[in-house]
Amino acid sequence: MRVSDRVLAMQNSPIRKFNPIAAEVKAQGTKIYHLNIGQPDIETPSVFWEAVKGFDQKVLAYADSYGLPELQDAIIDYFKRFDMNLKRNHVLITNGGSEALTLVFLSLLNPGDEVIVAEPYYTNYLTFIQAADGVVKPVTTYAEEGYKYAIKERLEKVVTDKTKMISIVNPGNPTGCILSREDMKVICDFAKEHDLWILADEVYREFAYDGREMTSFGQYPDVEDRVIIIDSVSKRYSACGARVGCLVCKNEEYMAEVMKIAMGRLCVPTLDMVGATAMYKMDPSFFNEVKKEYEHRRDVTYDALKKIPGVVCEKPGGAFYIACKLPVENAEDLLMFLLKEFRDNNETVMYAPMEGFYATPGLGKNELRIAYILNADDMKRGVELLGKGIEAYKAAGHK
Ligand SMILES: Cc1ncc(COP(=O)(O)O)c(C=O)c1O
Repeated sequence: MRVSDRVLAMQNSPIRKFNPIAAEVKAQGTKIYHLNIGQPDIETPSVFWEAVKGFDQKVLAYADSYGLPELQDAIIDYFKRFDMNLKRNHVLITNGGSEALTLVFLSLLNPGDEVIVAEPYYTNYLTFIQAADGVVKPVTTYAEEGYKYAIKERLEKVVTDKTKMISIVNPGNPTGCILSREDMKVICDFAKEHDLWILADEVYREFAYDGREMTSFGQYPDVEDRVIIIDSVSKRYSACGARVGCLVCKNEEYMAEVMKIAMGRLCVPTLDMVGATAMYKMDPSFFNEVKKEYEHRRDVTYDALKKIPGVVCEKPGGAFYIACKLPVENAEDLLMFLLKEFRDNNETVMYAPMEGFYATPGLGKNELRIAYILNADDMKRGVELLGKGIEAYKAAGHK
């Protein structure tokens, strides 16, 4: 018996694959600061729980494959804040942004088709694209350049006759890079010139700091037939376990095609959609405090990282991650040391090593991603543990 070559070629998620080791460490009584995963500690809004408690139907039935109409309408209203006028058949509710991404790649790629992605990227993009037999074509970005990738000459270098789409995460994970309006225009023009789809993953849309503007690729009418937007309640409302996201596209022919797969997977859990409807309906002022809190966590985390000798990082403009270069050769090896050997007051820390965030071989080996999703004191302590851990790692003779 054999599994597919496709799955054999895939990696385990560098964000999650160390969790079994972490579970053993915790079972022995050690506290771990989990800076490896984008799971915020901010409370899920009470309207979510109230809506779920208020559900009064006697049968928990299948929903429509498109999702609950009330949720579609709440999402349509939400996007009006970005001057977008959507209809119900432009909004497909999915099991998180993750399923939306899977559906997009499955519905757009033929075997060998290429997707332009800025690296370092959210590592699961590689998994989603490989699962659809596609190929990642990376545009390498650099901390020293603010991770800029909306540069026509660089995009031209990776486009081929197999390129089907350009995939954008804005604000970026793991870089925190935010596209300016000019950057977005460069990407729109490039996509038009080469007849590409634009996949715009905007699940961190509200997390734009230092007065930066929140935007959407849905605000560019000249590309509205080729833009597919990914949205999710996970980060925005601190409701990762709700597993509700959506795929938004004004191209109705495309929506009719992707619905074939969506109908096959039947629907999204009803109660989660009921709760999500209440959250999408919340007043946008909800984000003021949340954004302030993340901005504070970012500053605390960045300042603490800068105190570790040899760490190189850029202050991110958005989302809630910081990518850093470490003064060690192998970030995964250091993580193993932190989990298995290092303890400070019976505490240690976890992060995501970033080699798996690159398609270009050899890149990212000494890089890590930290998610600033814990309160400021815990972030400070987590980064302090990282600094002490690096010291102990080097003192033990590691490079
Ligand atoms: C850029 C990006 N897109 C999509 C997702 C998927 O999130 P979810 O499936 O919880 O909506 C994540 C999760 O971390 C992400 O960082």
